[in-house]
Amino acid sequence: MKSVILYYTFGGSTKKEAERIGAELEAPVYRVREKRNRSLLGSFIPGGFQAMKRKRVKILPPEADLSAFERIYIGCPVWAAYPAPAFNSIADLLPAGKEVEVFLCSGGNDPRPSDEGTKRMIEAKGCSVTSIYTIPTGVAPSKLKE
Ligand SMILES: Cc1cc2nc3c(=O)[nH]c(=O)nc-3n(C[C@H](O)[C@H](O)[C@H](O)COP(=O)(O)O)c2cc1C
Repeated sequence: MKSVILYYTFGGSTKKEAERIGAELEAPVYRVREKRNRSLLGSFIPGGFQAMKRKRVKILPPEADLSAFERIYIGCPVWAAYPAPAFNSIADLLPAGKEVEVFLCSGGNDPRPSDEGTKRMIEAKGCSVTSIYTIPTGVAPSKLKE
């Protein structure tokens, strides 16, 4: 099955996981960035609020033809118990008919009621969700040094 991995990271842990999955599947990996450079404070305010409201943010879209893949992995950090807002913008790019697997990097491993809505967002794009799973990183909020 032809797979591609798309991810957003703020602190770097989702990048690590995306690259691990990409190497395991021998699949291409694309980092999606927000257009605006966000500060650590900006990840909480307004970032946490944007995540909870499932707001879209402007992103630099991946240079990948998503229609060429059967399965699309989306990786994202958890902010305020929701996928970080870049996730919502990535989900908007999904072509219909794809299998989608979501991996969410979070500090802890608490149950996340937002997963149901995350699944519905992807299904609303005409895609099916193979799984949504958590990678508890134990990493405190921080910003990746580029
Ligand atoms: C704004 C913000 C909100 C966060 N909210 C949560 C949360 O609700 N639950 C949790 O377990 N971790 C939370 N975290 C921790 C991150 O999910 C965790 O550090 C994750 O590994 C970050 O991934 P990244 O390094 O790819 O950005 C939050 C981090 C930030 C920056």
